Amino acid sequence: MANIRLEDVSKFYGGQQVLADVSLEIDDGEMFALLGPSGSGKTTLLRLIAGLEAPSAGKVIFNNADFTHVSAQRRKAIIVFQDYALFPHLTVFQNIAFGLRAGGVPRVALESKVHDILGLVHLKDRQHSLPGELSGGQKQRVALARACVLEPRVLLLDEPFSNLDTGLRQSMRDFVAALQERLRFTCILVTHDKEEAFMMSRRVAVIVDSRLQQVDTPEAIFTRPLTKKLSDFLGEANYLDGRVQGGNFYCALGIFAVNAPDSANAVGRFRWDQLALTREAGPHLGRVTGKSYAGKATYYTVTIERGHTLNVFSARHDFFVGEEIFLEVLPSVVNVY
Ligand SMILES: Nc1ncnc2c1ncn2[C@@H]1O[C@H](COP(=O)(O)OP(=O)(O)OP(=O)(O)O)[C@@H](O)[C@H]1O
Ligand SMILES: [Mg+2]
Repeated sequence: MANIRLEDVSKFYGGQQVLADVSLEIDDGEMFALLGPSGSGKTTLLRLIAGLEAPSAGKVIFNNADFTHVSAQRRKAIIVFQDYALFPHLTVFQNIAFGLRAGGVPRVALESKVHDILGLVHLKDRQHSLPGELSGGQKQRVALARACVLEPRVLLLDEPFSNLDTGLRQSMRDFVAALQERLRFTCILVTHDKEEAFMMSRRVAVIVDSRLQQVDTPEAIFTRPLTKKLSDFLGEANYLDGRVQGGNFYCALGIFAVNAPDSANAVGRFRWDQLALTREAGPHLGRVTGKSYAGKATYYTVTIERGHTLNVFSARHDFFVGEEIFLEVLPSVVNVY
């Protein structure tokens, strides 16, 4: 187990900066999520923590000791790769035993450790199978077992669930959460799926364009993203131009209290679910111009006065295209940039 601290970590590949001044602290035994779009530098950050790559500048600190130039073997920080990277010609048992064998663990101890972990990942009956004979979820459990059997201080999971279908993904999330609770390693889960990050961790770091945008609770990130880049990555928001004066944001949807300095050119963020449609008289008359049903909600586009078109996410499915309706802003935080 380990506490991990990154101090002003930067990474360049050739002339390209892939990570810029990342500072971050992860607690011992924490389940931490690292969220960001494709190409933002997530895998690179994991590789720096695991010691597979050295930073161009900055420090990687484990338990208050500088590990920036310590070898990967000595860190006991293990990455489980997105494609599992199992050895195709070795059985499940041999895959899981591989690292122990390489580390010279005696046979009796090795067999007992592998059997214990096979039980934990519910694969005892598949121990003689080859990876090619397993389902995606089973392969993933072998990859997790192969990492966990080495008793890592830090387990780094790189998009571990992205190859799985929805049902299996949820059960693997539960499984990893339970395994982490039980073995108490520090865990960093990399994902580009915001809901997955929010559900799995109490603290989430979001990285966009090589920079850490915010490290916070899921709720704070969802409701109060600090930067426009982060808001754009989260998506599902309308932006309205306006101005900030005396702690109020003035825009086409009205006047909203905000925590921002005066500015003649500000943009306000209204999430799709912060707007509601109603047939009863409300503050803004509008017309439904588009509708798409998405199961648990329906997405509408609504045009209001002065030609503004807004997206609305509603649990009501009964408004129809062409209908005149009223639009209201639900009481909630409005963010301005
Ligand atoms: N070994 C390398 N040499 C040169 N450029 C690299 C190398 N590894 C990564 N990059 C570049 O660094 C940037 C970040 O890559 P990285 O793999 O960290 O992104 P990511 O956030 O993990 O993306 P994804 O979600 O698609 O996996 C990309 O522009 C990538 O092309
Ligand atoms: Mg990646």
